[in-house]
Amino acid sequence: MKSFAIITGASSGIGKEMALDLAAQSHNLILVARRENRLIELTTQIKQDFNVECEYIVKDLLAPNAANEVYEQAIKSGRINILINNAGIGYQDKFLDTSWEMHENIIKLNSTVPTQLSYLFSAHMLEHKQSSHILNVASLAAIFPIKNLSVYSGSKAYLKHMMDSLYFEFKDTNIFLTTVSPGGVITEFAENANQKPTEFANKHSKSARDVASLSIKAMFAKKRHYIVGVDNYMVYLLKRILPENLFNSTFNSIFKNFFH
Ligand SMILES: NC(=O)c1ccc[n+]([C@@H]2O[C@H](COP(=O)([O-])OP(=O)(O)OC[C@H]3O[C@@H](n4cnc5c(N)ncnc54)[C@H](OP(=O)(O)O)[C@@H]3O)[C@@H](O)[C@H]2O)c1
Repeated sequence: MKSFAIITGASSGIGKEMALDLAAQSHNLILVARRENRLIELTTQIKQDFNVECEYIVKDLLAPNAANEVYEQAIKSGRINILINNAGIGYQDKFLDTSWEMHENIIKLNSTVPTQLSYLFSAHMLEHKQSSHILNVASLAAIFPIKNLSVYSGSKAYLKHMMDSLYFEFKDTNIFLTTVSPGGVITEFAENANQKPTEFANKHSKSARDVASLSIKAMFAKKRHYIVGVDNYMVYLLKRILPENLFNSTFNSIFKNFFH
């Protein structure tokens, strides 16, 4: 039976680059997202350029029962030994100026869906006993509370903390858990999240390709939590050294310069 890596949110940005990175390392792939045209384009490119199998599942992960349907469809293809929970959304605005529906969608896509997919695929991984990985794409927002991104920050903090805790449960099994926390990345995320990045922000952002490649390396190196980029890691160290309130307010006053 063939093994596959499944990636959510593979139609653009970091997820797409992770797919290309894994294909270059000879992993068979199942790509999940809503935009079928993008998935067709990417699977065609991957099959042409790399000697791997590449399938796709068109799914709105916010739809009822979506995680179960993805799971059922994926295990028909073969053994899943890599799950990448990458699909995610955010919305930058005041708490009360953002619709409740948006808040709910952020919590569901960033927290509930990765938890459910991990629940389903970890049982499958424990059963097949082959060395397996679950990689979660969180964010620096999981560690630094950010004004006007409160629900996004909270949803990513949940994901990181849940996976950090689950790590101990799976530590002595065949499943390795890794959570990555990127800072700014140049993708479609900003536009969808109502963000208008300044020149300063773009200058300090990373490419999706670099973030994907560093994240996949961290996963195979079995790192529990990986902050993407030395610059971001330095800020993280500051958070650990400085009093919490001082760090949070200083970070938020600097963060203001990242958006118009
Ligand atoms: N860009 C940043 O600055 C940044 C920083 C830190 C963390 N992150 C995290 O990185 C991850 C990837 O984001 P990105 O920057 O690569 O943004 P992106 O280019 O907008 O990619 C988001 C992906 O999620 C998919 N997606 C969105 N809603 C979905 C839904 N309801 N059902 C299924 N798939 C859905 C999108 O595909 P479809 O639209 O085709 O469904 C797309 O493939 C996210 O979890 C994000 O929170 C991003």
